[in-house]
Amino acid sequence: MLASPQPAPEGLEKPWQALLEHLEKIRPLHLRDIFSEDPDRFDKFSIQFDELFLDYSKNPITEETLELLFELARQADLSGWIERMFRGEKINNTEGRAVLHVALRNRANTPIKVDGRDVMPEVNAVLQQMQTFTESVRNGTFSGHTGRPLEHIVNIGIGGSDLGPRMVSTALRPYWKPGMKAHFVSNVDGTDISEALAQADPETTLFIIASKTFTTRETMTNAHTARRWFLERTKGNEKAIARHFVAVSTNAEAVRAFGIDEANMFRFWEWVGGRYSLWSAIGLPIALLVGMERFEALLAGAHAMDNHFRHAPFERNMAVILGLLDIWQRNFLGTGNHAVLPYDHSLRLLPAYLQQADMESNGKGVTRDGTPVQHHTGPVVWGQPGTNGQHAFFQLMHQGTEPVPADFILPAQSHHSLEEHHRILAANCIAQTEALMKGKTASEVRRELTAAGLPEEEIERLVPHRTFPGNRASNTLLMKKLTPYNLGALIALYEHRIFVQSVIWNINAFDQWGVELGKQLAADIEAALASDAPCSGHDSSTNGLVNKFKEMTT
Ligand code: F6P
Repeated sequence: MLASPQPAPEGLEKPWQALLEHLEKIRPLHLRDIFSEDPDRFDKFSIQFDELFLDYSKNPITEETLELLFELARQADLSGWIERMFRGEKINNTEGRAVLHVALRNRANTPIKVDGRDVMPEVNAVLQQMQTFTESVRNGTFSGHTGRPLEHIVNIGIGGSDLGPRMVSTALRPYWKPGMKAHFVSNVDGTDISEALAQADPETTLFIIASKTFTTRETMTNAHTARRWFLERTKGNEKAIARHFVAVSTNAEAVRAFGIDEANMFRFWEWVGGRYSLWSAIGLPIALLVGMERFEALLAGAHAMDNHFRHAPFERNMAVILGLLDIWQRNFLGTGNHAVLPYDHSLRLLPAYLQQADMESNGKGVTRDGTPVQHHTGPVVWGQPGTNGQHAFFQLMHQGTEPVPADFILPAQSHHSLEEHHRILAANCIAQTEALMKGKTASEVRRELTAAGLPEEEIERLVPHRTFPGNRASNTLLMKKLTPYNLGALIALYEHRIFVQSVIWNINAFDQWGVELGKQLAADIEAALASDAPCSGHDSSTNGLVNKFKEMTT
């Protein structure tokens, strides 16, 4: 456990100390009181960008808090880091790579150079390839091997090669071409691919094998199973594979070795991180389902947010404000988790998507130069769509001992015509933010129970149980409507907010060495499971579990 208060990141001691001193002024305040003292609080602490509106007034902050946080960002050279990223410098220093998801949606097409070479012509060429392919599948000119249209997309990928396209496709369901079906297979658990194949038709299914490396064990195992399934049903027709299998990868050699023609391969580049890749050809399932024009609108929304992030002053910069509020929560108020609560069923996969985006990026324990950090880094990110969460974990959020800063996300317009449903949904979303902030005092509870006619003794027994402390922070993001453009802007907002935190913490948000050890050990254990000999090369628990598992399989 790190001590509290947490020491400053190196070089930020002065602004950090100023924030620590300021914290002592904030601690005794209750959000309920600071709201009643300042009727302009909502106007002061809210910001509009395009069709996104952020209310961050329900955070324990004053104008001074923000000024001190902006100073912290200035001292950390946040503007410099933003420029370094946008200019294609190799800020992923443990892999020697640029970080250019912003180039994938650079609709202005201004040159962005890596090693002196403009990447935009290649980005545009792949977008063009996606457009041609998408149109020909959607209009039936690229059909299955028997001439029937390809109507069932099965995307096989994991992590960034799954969560982004899966989340966005689900969010944009109202825009799908009628008749199209989609499956996203990620888990190596055979149930996942079995369920998809049970619904697939070898004449009308298009398999997209999505893997940056084309070596990921789960994806390759699922891809080979799909290939076998297909050949079994087409009497070993290898030629037909070209009509039913395409690949998205940086690894052309491995794609060829798998048996997919290079003409059916969509490239991307090492400077695109897996969890930042939905904007690349990894987004192919999205484009197939909603059409290339809408995929481009998604890119345009993200590009608009990129420009905002790059050029807006900190004081009017949504991603900077959110990222700094996260620092305030994590390092000064000491919260260890962050809830993402979309009040939109279509955004139900957003929390899972953001778990990878945030936790794989900022779940780091050493600084960019390898020194152990002395302060906390990324929090645990979790969430569920509203209103479901209210009937599950909101109890803890309101009365538990673990503070949970939360993002509430609510589109003002829905895609359905059930007005009453949308009104109830919106009312619940806004009411929860109010309840968390205000709470309910003991005297309010007493008044309520007295009015209900309860005897004095019973009232006193119930008061502690029915009191809400309040003073619990949240951000509310309103969106006009969940369109491709607005969704693009929302995702880019989160990406940049994560980057802001990493700059303050001086960590590399773009590598993920922490996933390697488990992969290596799984290979050893797989061999032990396949062997007839008892497992003995590990600790007693690991050996024992392998041997017990083998015993229980018969
Ligand atoms: O889990 C680690 C990871 O490397 C993620 O960063 C990545 O998104 C995922 O695996 C999938 O990798 P690939 O696209 O290379 O199959």
